[in-house]
Amino acid sequence: MKTEKGFEVTEKKGAYYIDGVLMVNKTYPLSPEYGDGLTPETEKAFEEMKADGEKLGLGLYNSSGFRSYDYQNKIYNEYVEEDGRDVADTYSARPGHSEHQSGLAFDLNTISDEFADTEEGKWVNDNCWKYGFILRFPKGKNHITGYKYEPWHMRFVGRELAEKMYNGGDWLTLEEYFGVDSCYEHTLASPKND
Ligand code: DAL
Ligand code: ZN
Repeated sequence: MKTEKGFEVTEKKGAYYIDGVLMVNKTYPLSPEYGDGLTPETEKAFEEMKADGEKLGLGLYNSSGFRSYDYQNKIYNEYVEEDGRDVADTYSARPGHSEHQSGLAFDLNTISDEFADTEEGKWVNDNCWKYGFILRFPKGKNHITGYKYEPWHMRFVGRELAEKMYNGGDWLTLEEYFGVDSCYEHTLASPKND
């Protein structure tokens, strides 16, 4: 299978990969069994970013890292109870669709829009790509990513791809880059576990 932009899509051990990059969004699920914590490369890159931030007097901390399928199921359903399904779908992933289950994503500091205006938020927006992270849900791209702006949500993709996504300060999305969508009407079958 190929994406609209001609990138190869493969399945391996409960996840889909596009051009070798793990993809999870509303269209691309993870198998319920996938994941067991943040990956070592994600942890290491975060430690480096945090240490460099500290040198500048910035305090970065991981406020939500790996989330299992079952845990995502619990929090998604709490949000649905609170706000209804349509609204919850704009900010919380259904189980099997969260990057937090991939072990490649985590949230920084406070999960609120104000984070973007803090010194930490501004520095992270401009510098996280140097450590291999992207701002996965940029402002004004909700119709593409399927989620509203999340200045706190980091996704590890490696420095080379992160620099392309940073795009000189005008963040691109993985959906735009690879030519895929993010919508539950198009959800693919659960990826193979082998
Ligand atoms: N808040 C993001 C979209 C998640 O639930 O994974
Ligand atoms: Zn997040």
